[in-house]
Amino acid sequence: MKVLVIGGGGREHALCWKLKRSPSVSEVICAPGNPGIAKDARCINVNAGDIDGLVDLVRKEQPRLVVVGPEVPLVAGLADRLRAENFAVFGPNRAAAELEGSKSFAKTLMDEAGVPTAAFETHTDPDAAETCIRNWSAPIVIKASGLAAGKGVIIAQTVDEAVAVARDMLAGNSFGDAGSQVVIEEFLEGEEASCLFVVSGDTILPLDSSQDHKALLDDDKGPNTGGMGAYSPAPCVTKEIADEVLETIARPVIAALKDRGIEFIGTLYAGIMLTDDGPKALEFNVRFGDPECQPLMSRLKSDLGEVLLAAAEKRLDGVTLDWDEHAALTVVVASDGYPGSFVKGQIIGGLDDVEAVGTTVFHAGTGEKDGAIVNSGGRVLGVTALGDSVAEAQQTVYTALKYLDWPGGFYRKDIGWRALKREKSE
Ligand code: AMP
Ligand code: GLY
Repeated sequence: MKVLVIGGGGREHALCWKLKRSPSVSEVICAPGNPGIAKDARCINVNAGDIDGLVDLVRKEQPRLVVVGPEVPLVAGLADRLRAENFAVFGPNRAAAELEGSKSFAKTLMDEAGVPTAAFETHTDPDAAETCIRNWSAPIVIKASGLAAGKGVIIAQTVDEAVAVARDMLAGNSFGDAGSQVVIEEFLEGEEASCLFVVSGDTILPLDSSQDHKALLDDDKGPNTGGMGAYSPAPCVTKEIADEVLETIARPVIAALKDRGIEFIGTLYAGIMLTDDGPKALEFNVRFGDPECQPLMSRLKSDLGEVLLAAAEKRLDGVTLDWDEHAALTVVVASDGYPGSFVKGQIIGGLDDVEAVGTTVFHAGTGEKDGAIVNSGGRVLGVTALGDSVAEAQQTVYTALKYLDWPGGFYRKDIGWRALKREKSE
């Protein structure tokens, strides 16, 4: 079958890479894609935010399956538009995508469904927000309710800082419209993990666990980013914890949506904090995690095309997923300056040498200039390797990265450290 993937980042490269290797898939196309994706798919230059353009493209290409990678077109209702024309789509409709598009909606739904999560209040009025904050003690978590590319969460270390952050968000200074409503949350302590599920109506199929590193710098310091590296499986997610997340978090949330007449078809991504009181939901996304998708796809043995088509056609029941026993680890290489501003168009060399060491280089923010690969985004590459352990996968990636020739890029040197610590102690 012919599959169209929408998006052009590292997640979409990993999806296209895996779909190309799926026996059920004869052709992969990707809009807009990127120069790395072009090795695995035919790229067509329609942007993931151009909903009309994408609908026209699907009408023209008539793919058997459309896989929507990023949240923006989902929240904008692309899946609804395509389903209305009877295309098979993997990705939720607009109403279900609100789980990611509005943190306030997600928290309210979790409350209704009795899902364990941090205590919270939502506010649109700065004075009311301040009153709430002054009743709590620091640290306090302040979140822009709308989409903010993973950057809209501030952990304030003092009450005064929390007030300033909330006022700034509500004034529209830091996240524009996304900050016109804020969620004020209790700070949870623990280790974080990403629990992803392929969902089709009542059927919820868990993926193997993964963990990403959201902080910009080594030792998990610095501001939050979309993710600077990831690995799978995450040793902190035992079988018991995975079952608990499925039963206490994923199932009740999907059921609560259903109670509101909302069906979910796509990936449910639960960001989890493993607290002393058990796993609690930090957030939901309605798509594969990025970079988590990269180690996950590197380990998936099943035919991805078949699984996603079964979900899109509501016949996921009975489908199982096979995983490579190896661990997989991805290190993100970002442009100097990310998550702030950075210089685009710098030439990136040595990519073949990096892969020759035994890695797969997934392209996230790359472009092409005069035949050379250049940076075009904040997160640029996801260098990924398999290993008998997370430590071995990590060693391969960092050895390979010595061959990367790009002075304007940087990466964390400690991706996987929590897993390594656990592996050492076992
Ligand atoms: P979110 O986008 O809501 O997952 O938040 C991004 C990151 O902020 C999470 O991955 C956590 O590292 C951190 N975070 C969010 N909410 C909390 C919380 N209630 N307590 C502690 N850390 C949090
Ligand atoms: N890596 C976090 C996310 O995809 O939202």
